[in-house]
Amino acid sequence: MSTAPGLASLLAHPRARQAARGVSDWIDLQWSLLIEQLRAVAPRARGRLLDVGCGNKPYEHLFRPFVSEYIGVEHSATFGETSASQAGGPDVFYDGVSLPFEDASFDTVLSVQVLEHTSEPQRLLEEMSRVLRHDGLMILNAPFSFRLHEEPHDYFRYTPHGLRAMCEKAQLEVVEIRPQGGFGSVIGHKLNSLLGLRLARVQGLAQSLGKLGHEASSQSPPRFWLLPVVFPTMAVISAAARVFDRCVAESTEALSFLVLARKVAAPRG
Ligand SMILES: C[S@@+](CC[C@H](N)C(=O)[O-])C[C@H]1O[C@@H](n2cnc3c(N)ncnc32)[C@H](O)[C@@H]1O
Repeated sequence: MSTAPGLASLLAHPRARQAARGVSDWIDLQWSLLIEQLRAVAPRARGRLLDVGCGNKPYEHLFRPFVSEYIGVEHSATFGETSASQAGGPDVFYDGVSLPFEDASFDTVLSVQVLEHTSEPQRLLEEMSRVLRHDGLMILNAPFSFRLHEEPHDYFRYTPHGLRAMCEKAQLEVVEIRPQGGFGSVIGHKLNSLLGLRLARVQGLAQSLGKLGHEASSQSPPRFWLLPVVFPTMAVISAAARVFDRCVAESTEALSFLVLARKVAAPRG
C-alpha cells in the first residue's frame, strides 16, 4: 500500500503505530463493540478451544487466559483470498466442509463472523456442534446489519430467531443471545464506512495497521487531503452513536448478534 512518505515513517514508529491503531479501533464501532462483547464472555471459555474461521486469530489474546489450548482452523480457499492470509494465523486448514477433528474433541467452539461466508451455514454449524463435547460452550457471532464484504463469499445476514432455530437443529441449546450495538451504532457504522472507505479510501491504510484482514488486500492510496476532515468527523459520529445507544434502547437494530449455547444430547427417536 502506498502511504505518504511522512505518514509511512510516522507509522514505522511502534508507539505511533500503536496509538493510530488504538484510535482507529475506537472509531471503528463494529470492531470496538465486538471486542467489548467477546472480552465479557471470554471468562466462560474452558479447556480446548477451536476458533472456526479464525482469520489471523485476532481474539486469541482475549481467550488465552481461560483455555488450555487455542486452535484456529480456516477454509483454505476463502482464507487465501483475504489480506489476513499474508500474516498467517490458522493452525489447521481444511476444505470448508468437514472439520478435520474427532467428535466431541473440544470444550469450547468460537466462531466470529463466519456463518455469513458459507453457502451452507447449517451444515457448518452442525460440524461445529459435532466437534463440541456434551455440555461444551458454543460462542457464535453473526452479522445482522453489515455492508457486503469478502465478496463474492458473502451469502447471509442473521436474526436472533434464525440463529436460535439453526442452533436447535444442531443440538445446541441457546443460553443467551446478546445484540452488538443498537440503532446509533448501525447508523454510525454505516456513515463511517461511507466516509472512511468510499470517500477517504483508507482500506490500505487500515490494513497496514492490521485491520480489515477479512477483505482482499487494497493497493489504492488514501485521499490524504481528506483525512484531516474525515477522521475527526468519524470520531464525532462514533461518540454520538455510543451516546445515542446509551440513551435510546432500540431492540430491533444491532450490528450483529452473539449467541452462547450449550451442546445437548440428540433427541431420542
Ligand atoms: C469475516 S472473516 C472473519 C475472520 C475472523 N473470525 C475474524 O473475526 O477476524 C470470515 C472468515 O471465514 C472463513 N470461512 C469461510 N467459509 C468457511 C468455512 N466453511 N469454514 C471455516 N471458515 C470459513 C474465511 O476464510 C474468513 O477468514
